[in-house]
Amino acid sequence: MKITIVGTGYVGLVTGACLADTGNEVWCVDKNSEKIDNLNKGILPIYEPGLDIIVSRNTKDNRLFFTNDLAKAIANSEICFLTVDTPSNDTGAADLTNVVAVANALGEMLQTPILLVTKSTVPVGTTLKVKKIVQTGLQNRSLDPTSVSVASNPEFLKEGTAIQDFRYPDRVVVGTERSQDAQKLHELYSPFMRKQDCFLVMDIASSELCKYASNAMLATRISFMNEMSQLCEKVGADIAHIRTAMGWDPRIGTHFLYAGLGYGGSCLPKDVLALTHLGKEMETPLYLVEAADQTNGNQRERFLNRIVAHFGGKNNVKGKTVALWGISFKPETDDIRQAPAIFLIEKLLGLKAMVKAFDPVAIQNARKLFEDRVTFCNNNYACLEGADCLIIVTEWNEFRSPNFTKMKQLLTNPVIFDGRNLYSPEKMRELGFDYFSIGR
Ligand SMILES: NC(=O)c1ccc[n+]([C@@H]2O[C@H](COP(=O)([O-])OP(=O)(O)OC[C@H]3O[C@@H](n4cnc5c(N)ncnc54)[C@H](O)[C@@H]3O)[C@@H](O)[C@H]2O)c1
Repeated sequence: MKITIVGTGYVGLVTGACLADTGNEVWCVDKNSEKIDNLNKGILPIYEPGLDIIVSRNTKDNRLFFTNDLAKAIANSEICFLTVDTPSNDTGAADLTNVVAVANALGEMLQTPILLVTKSTVPVGTTLKVKKIVQTGLQNRSLDPTSVSVASNPEFLKEGTAIQDFRYPDRVVVGTERSQDAQKLHELYSPFMRKQDCFLVMDIASSELCKYASNAMLATRISFMNEMSQLCEKVGADIAHIRTAMGWDPRIGTHFLYAGLGYGGSCLPKDVLALTHLGKEMETPLYLVEAADQTNGNQRERFLNRIVAHFGGKNNVKGKTVALWGISFKPETDDIRQAPAIFLIEKLLGLKAMVKAFDPVAIQNARKLFEDRVTFCNNNYACLEGADCLIIVTEWNEFRSPNFTKMKQLLTNPVIFDGRNLYSPEKMRELGFDYFSIGR
């Protein structure tokens, strides 16, 4: 099948590479020329484990192509996925500018029948809006509007394990108006469902909404545990015990029950906002989801306040050197969008602290944001030299069993604020650290 993917980011590139890998001819399009030029030179715009090998194999075998030229890509494609970004606008609603731009462009250039699939996370009604825009474009050129059909196919991959998630999905959700469109997508996805057919067909509105509902549930679980962690600190309980005891109940399960610095990234924060916005618009306030967002904000503030209190108040943070381990919003990705580290660094810089930071893969992205306002280090120990404390923000594996003796020697003061509960408080006390973690 010839397939076009519009938007070659975290979702588009993974989708394109994995679909090419099963034998399809895939054209990945992006409006960002630098990104496309680099991809054509074999340089990937993102860090995603295992992606480079699949991209290079499929470009070499002439199944995967990168271009800025949408018309060239779309010619004779049977399916076109929209994987452009849908960030929050000022009101919290999903900004559909990119989706609408692609729909307008398609309406002006499509010549042959095609199935347009929204894979970006979009509010209910967007897929039909895309159809309307494209069909109007076709009508204006006296072409048959029914040659275009649409489907919703929200993406559930997780950065860091995106290849595995795409190849072995828990579920593939599609919302369609016509059974033949569902069949076509089933055919496309069947190589990834050999063990178990996890293809779910539903109406378009349900398909669009289920992605938001899933992310809102995940956000709510995290915020729930973060609220419990705050209570644990007040009553002298340990959130790790609470998590185990809760998680062993099969009705609850163990996933997404970690207290920490709250959720970040390019999806959960914006999707929670977009869902609450949709609820308000529909006069159906989503109190729980709104509270998840509020708790998420509080959790970061509380953590920052604890650091500030340790130094004796805001004025005393000035001139302190702070080491920070982990910048990406979670391990195994270079994505720093809405990362807790960005919030903490901005606040600490605002209080005139000096920040030294290390991340295994996200430094390049962080440097673009902070330029020379932050000292970026080549390894995690280099950060610690002369620092008044260490803040652990992202739970990269290499931070889990560090050389504590070396850390103590390098730090000016043996103080650790651990936003991810990586170490045992008892052990840290024995080693002579002032150790602050969350909910323990
Ligand atoms: N990143 C994730 O983990 C993830 C997971 C599931 C769903 N999603 C959803 O998928 C969508 C894409 O997310 P992402 O993280 O891949 O975004 P991204 O920012 O990494 O990539 C989007 C790409 O689209 C391109 N683009 C924007 N407008 C365009 C246009 N008019 N024509 C051509 N290209 C255009 C941008 O240049 C960019 O390269 C979002 O709706 C997101 O919510 C993301």
